[in-house]
Amino acid sequence: MAKCLNCLKWYNMEGIQPFAEFACQNCGACLMNPYRISKFWLYKQVGEGGMGRVYLAQQFGDPTLYAIKMAQHTSECDYRFQSLLYEGEIILDLDHPNIPPAYNFGYKQGHAFLVMNFEQGVTLEEYVFHTHEYPIPEQLLSAWMLQLVDSLQYMGKMGYIYRDLKPQNLLVDDNRMVLVDFGLAMHHEHKHDIDEENLVGSPAYIPPERITGEPEDLRSDMYSMGMVLYFAAAGEDYFGGDDHQAIVEGHIQNERVPIQTLLPHLSAHFAGIMDRLIKTDPQERYQSYEELYNDFMQNQAIQQTVNA
Ligand SMILES: Nc1ncnc2c1ncn2[C@@H]1O[C@H](COP(=O)(O)OP(=O)(O)O)[C@@H](O)[C@H]1O
Ligand SMILES: [Mg+2]
Repeated sequence: MAKCLNCLKWYNMEGIQPFAEFACQNCGACLMNPYRISKFWLYKQVGEGGMGRVYLAQQFGDPTLYAIKMAQHTSECDYRFQSLLYEGEIILDLDHPNIPPAYNFGYKQGHAFLVMNFEQGVTLEEYVFHTHEYPIPEQLLSAWMLQLVDSLQYMGKMGYIYRDLKPQNLLVDDNRMVLVDFGLAMHHEHKHDIDEENLVGSPAYIPPERITGEPEDLRSDMYSMGMVLYFAAAGEDYFGGDDHQAIVEGHIQNERVPIQTLLPHLSAHFAGIMDRLIKTDPQERYQSYEELYNDFMQNQAIQQTVNA
């Protein structure tokens, strides 16, 4: 027997497969049969990506809400299974306010799983497509950017680059932004882990140097951050559409339309920061997160002087 989350009456679980959706025998609400893994009860799917599904979970007597990511495949040889264990090692190494704390990872009952804190909010993609506040104010874009800068700078200090910035991997809850999904993150000592055969990542946000096979570094994440900020500011991708080849070619050619021409509602300074982030040549981008941060703050100071 288990309790319906809607009417709080008991229902009979007999014959219902774990994770199967069914109508509550008492109130008719659509429920998912909870599944137990280790000490956790997984009772609602909250997200899905190319690698796994993420479930809301709790353990008995503990009010904490956990997010448990499970690989979609149960074979230990499958790359998604291994990738989740790899991700687990990385995220357990990280401790930052804009990265979900992670507690445990491993495999049980044939499933690879990773236990994290459940983060409130929606993905940036959902936020942009469903927000009623359009365009998103520059102040909010700036707040998100500074949190991203802080978390990526922290990862850099820990020896990692993130490599998968995209709206689906960012959770926003008002002005807070959280980075999830460390499946493509890479430590500088493990460069051989790079998949040179396949072009990994989402085409709209991929840095040019990954396409041309040049080495990636923190400036590559900066490029993807510029593309993500553009998506948030414009409500569409800088290189959009279904033609992947055209998107990939767009990233590696040198022409960029000035952001302020495309998005005149942004201040010249913020648009200028975005122009610099999405330069094809990494040498023309900011060379460090400090440089980006100082450029941003300098203008804030000028603005405050002008307004005083
Ligand atoms: N800690 C978390 N708290 C809440 N939701 C999360 C958390 N981690 C991931 N999600 C949700 O699950 C989705 C898929 O997770 P993600 O790690 O990106 O999987 P994949 O590697 O398959 O892309 C995310 O887009 C997000 O909506
Ligand atoms: Mg993802």
